[in-house]
Amino acid sequence: MKDPTWPALTLGLDAILQESANPEAALEKLRAAVYRCRRCALHRSKTNYVFGAGNPRSPVMFVGEAPGAEEDRLGKPFVGRAGERLTRALETLGWTRESHVYIANTLKCRPPNNRDPRPEEIRACSPYLDAQIRIIRPRVLVALGRFAAHFLLDIPMERMKLGRLRGRLHDSRYGVPVLVTYHPAATLRRQETYQSFLDDLRFLRDWIEGRDIA
Ligand code: URA
Repeated sequence: MKDPTWPALTLGLDAILQESANPEAALEKLRAAVYRCRRCALHRSKTNYVFGAGNPRSPVMFVGEAPGAEEDRLGKPFVGRAGERLTRALETLGWTRESHVYIANTLKCRPPNNRDPRPEEIRACSPYLDAQIRIIRPRVLVALGRFAAHFLLDIPMERMKLGRLRGRLHDSRYGVPVLVTYHPAATLRRQETYQSFLDDLRFLRDWIEGRDIA
């Protein structure tokens, strides 16, 4: 069934997108729209909406899955254990999360008990991430894990083989490449993936800095 709120929401976001010469202002308007969102049931169980954070003028935009308990409590992305992992990994590149990247999630509200996002929740929330990407206009998007890769590359979840997709740039509908890598939480559960995660981030830095890639 067609979502009856869609035209109104689309119109609101179109107006915001016209401000994209000033990404900070456009993002603040979009943040206000997210903070009013009732498009799925997650707004009832969440504590805080988790919009996004970092440098909106960065050429690199990371996309995660959904807020966890710490993110929900503080209203900021990647501030729990997985966030700590991501922050440390960025530091190995000489990058900080405040200056060198922008970070957002496919969902802006925490699914209860950290369960997987549901297809209807991803669909309901998708205009917000879509608008964030169009405002920030990064040179590269980084999909952290399966749900972000699903969103950015339109790959059905049942066909998702992260091990085969990771470490390479893929074309996307945004006209910029998508680098797929592991979700930082997965590297905590499966320590053997952490080195590949760091390798992918090094590849990213070399690509963005225009270095020769071996
Ligand atoms: N995992 C995510 O995908 N996003 C967060 O913000 C935190 C944990």
